[in-house]
Amino acid sequence: MATKRDIDYVDAFPPTMEALARGEVLLVSTDGQDHSSGMVIGWGSIGIIWGRAIFTAFVRPSRHTYSLMEATEDFTVNVMSPEFKQAVSFWGKASGRDQDKWAKTGLLPTPSRHLRSPIVEQGILHFECRTVHRHDLVPANLAPEIGHAFYASGDHHKVYYGQILACYGI
Ligand SMILES: Cc1cc2nc3c(=O)[nH]c(=O)nc-3n(C[C@H](O)[C@H](O)[C@H](O)COP(=O)(O)O)c2cc1C
Repeated sequence: MATKRDIDYVDAFPPTMEALARGEVLLVSTDGQDHSSGMVIGWGSIGIIWGRAIFTAFVRPSRHTYSLMEATEDFTVNVMSPEFKQAVSFWGKASGRDQDKWAKTGLLPTPSRHLRSPIVEQGILHFECRTVHRHDLVPANLAPEIGHAFYASGDHHKVYYGQILACYGI
C-alpha cells in the first residue's frame, strides 16, 4: 500500500460527512484475535470532547460489529470512494457473523498504526479511534418522534466515543 499522508481531522470533516450521507463509510473492529470485520455506518460525528478529537459512532447491539467493538475497545473509520459501491453495499447488508466480508468483496484489512483494529486498504481516508467512553441510549429520554421512527422494535444504539489517534488518507 502506498504511504498515506497525515490529514488534520478538521480538514477530514467535510468529506467524511458527505461520505456518511452517501453510505460510503465503513467502521471496522476486531475481536483482538484473528477476526476482524465491520459494517457501513451512516451516522457519526467528529468534534472535541475532553480536550480530545473524538469520532462518535452509533452501533446497534444486534450487529456483529457490536461484539467486536465491545471486545477490543478500538475501531477504525474508513471512507471509501464510489468505485467500491458494490463491496460497500455488501458490508451494509450481510453480517460478519456468517460471512467473511473481506473475502467476499476483495476489500483488504491492513494493519493500522496504533490499534488492533485494521483499516480498509482501499479506503481514501481513515480515522484510528480508541474507545474512551460508550453508553447506551436512554429510550425514555428520546424525543418521541425519534423513538417511533428509529426504535419501534428496540435495538437501541450504543454510542461509542473514539479518541482519534490518527487521521490519514490519499
Ligand atoms: C447506509 C447505511 C448506513 C448504516 N448505518 C448504520 C449505523 O450507523 N449504525 C448501525 O448500527 N448500523 C448501520 N447500518 C446497518 C449495518 O451496516 C448492517 O446492519 C450490517 O449488515 C451489520 O453488519 P454486522 O452484523 O456484520 O455488524 C447501516 C447500513 C447502511 C446500508
